[in-house]
Amino acid sequence: MGIEKLKTVLKSPNRSFELKTPVLGASGTYGYNNEFEDFINIEYLGGVVTKGITLEKRLGNKGDRIFETTSGMINRIGLENVGIDCFIKEKLPVLKEKNIDFILNMAGSSFEDYEKLATIVNDNDIKAIEVNVSCPNVNSGCLEFGKNPKTLEELVKKIRNNYDGFLIVKLSPNVSDIRSLALAVQNAGADCISAINTLHGLGIKLNYNGKTFTKKSVQGGLSGRCVKPVSLYYVNQIKNTVDIPIIAIGGIATMNDVFEFISVGADAVQIGTENFTNPSVISDIAVNIEKFMDKNNFKDFEDLKCKIRLEEE
Ligand SMILES: Cc1cc2nc3c(=O)[nH]c(=O)nc-3n(C[C@H](O)[C@H](O)[C@H](O)COP(=O)(O)O)c2cc1C
Repeated sequence: MGIEKLKTVLKSPNRSFELKTPVLGASGTYGYNNEFEDFINIEYLGGVVTKGITLEKRLGNKGDRIFETTSGMINRIGLENVGIDCFIKEKLPVLKEKNIDFILNMAGSSFEDYEKLATIVNDNDIKAIEVNVSCPNVNSGCLEFGKNPKTLEELVKKIRNNYDGFLIVKLSPNVSDIRSLALAVQNAGADCISAINTLHGLGIKLNYNGKTFTKKSVQGGLSGRCVKPVSLYYVNQIKNTVDIPIIAIGGIATMNDVFEFISVGADAVQIGTENFTNPSVISDIAVNIEKFMDKNNFKDFEDLKCKIRLEEE
């Protein structure tokens, strides 16, 4: 049956969203696909989550924006992006022409920003959006909306009122109680939760020249393999709180990682930082899952998901 086996349907009470495979490229790490298309087996790409799009074009932060850490990285890109008008004019036609499934990731600094973005994407028939209320690298908005359950519920309701498609809200690990935020998202009518965005982090590089020390530092969002246990913890907490589907993100690099996330409640996954180490990782993982299913006679992904979730020692 081939790739058909990997089909994944995210189902909320009011909508559903179908993915070719359960393995997607995470926002900000997979561009708009064209950056990776020479490396990946495109047939096995579950979809692309776009870079965070804002109303206006943004140049992002000045200075050092990337710092390598043990088993991960810190970034402070600051939501550099082309802005929604340019996305619609230049990026959207290419994604459509190449038949790439995608989810538009959006970010704003005010309720009005998110409402306007929601209206524009609705008018352009964009099938799924991921609302970023979790970026730690900008001075205003974004994470501020994702910390307080009341504010978050109000924001998601406003977006819901302006957008008819599949609505995903991306949560942050930099909060005191993710369960109340997950509940707020569900109550406001969102269809799905994705988690996690990056963790606050500080990278320091000291150099001694024989007389004095010099210091370079980058404060931003930590991601990569080192964050996987944190993400597993949060995905598990979200699963124990809400009924809507969950897309897991954070340190995922192998098929086994995907299975671990499924075991705590994930329905699909996104791959972020690992794309920089292995640009074909998304299709590699999907192909490996297909081989595993063939070898072990799993008829479809739902079947595999149910079996993984039943295992408890
Ligand atoms: C360079 C870089 C840029 C990112 N840009 C965005 C963004 O624009 N919007 C967003 O929601 N998340 C963004 N993220 C967060 C990732 O989508 C992902 O949630 C996070 O990196 C954890 O996954 P990972 O450990 O697999 O990288 C970015 C991450 C990195 C490393």
